[in-house]
Amino acid sequence: PLVTASQLIDRARAERRGVGAFNVIQVEHAEAFVAAAARAGTGVVLQISQNAAKYHGGLEPIALATLAIARASSAPVVVHLDHAEDRALVSEAIELGMGSVMYDGSALDYEANVEATADVVREAHARGVFVEAELGKVGGKDGVHAPGVRTDPTEAVAFVAATGVDALAVAVGSSHAMTDRTASLDFERIAELRAVVPVPLVLHGSSGVADADLTRAVEEGMTKINISTHLNNTLTRALRTYLEQNPTVVDPRKYLGAGRDAMRDEVVRLLGVLNAA
Ligand code: G3H
Ligand code: ZN
Repeated sequence: PLVTASQLIDRARAERRGVGAFNVIQVEHAEAFVAAAARAGTGVVLQISQNAAKYHGGLEPIALATLAIARASSAPVVVHLDHAEDRALVSEAIELGMGSVMYDGSALDYEANVEATADVVREAHARGVFVEAELGKVGGKDGVHAPGVRTDPTEAVAFVAATGVDALAVAVGSSHAMTDRTASLDFERIAELRAVVPVPLVLHGSSGVADADLTRAVEEGMTKINISTHLNNTLTRALRTYLEQNPTVVDPRKYLGAGRDAMRDEVVRLLGVLNAA
């Protein structure tokens, strides 16, 4: 069923467990992720980015399909809007029934990020919707990796107090869209942030982080762990293998089904790495 993000994420923070947040691009992603959560006996965040909505020509088709999959699941599921820079898209997500939104003002200067994020919080909280924001740019979405950027703990505390956000994405050494898992996380900074920031911390660009470092990041205090590229790699590899081995296949259910199974199995494994259960 659908659950609130605070039920899933605040509780995980208190227990020093991770919450897997996986990006939905096609319906098969959502199906794979809820199947994995049910197998692992834990909850999951299904997230749809502004870019994924754009790919589908709008948020509604993919959001409503994902919400239906979430409601039908035996696992606790949150449906979240990921990396929205378009303010109107945040309102649309709330209208559609998504229980959690990320407003990404990380490209703005500090004051403008505070102002825009606080405005999102006012609207979302009036509707019982959870808000994630970003402070300190994780980077990599535009192809420009800047793994040296760090979120300042004092500024993070002030930002959370000024905006009222429910979760905070921080820059601690990861970068978006890495296809190898060689990111070097700043565990000291993670522990410092965890000690002073009163809301769950979100790790973006987690595809670039090796298994052992993901486990340690959760132990040191990261809670919501966003993984996208790695699972698209899993999907694409499974499709390639299936199509090479079955060169006459034409029914997409065959190869997409193989890809969906591969994503499900990898997410079961990752939920273990994140100590999500
Ligand atoms: O918001 C989404 C994530 O930060 C995913 O990043 O594709 O590098 O795993 P990734
Ligand atoms: Zn991200």
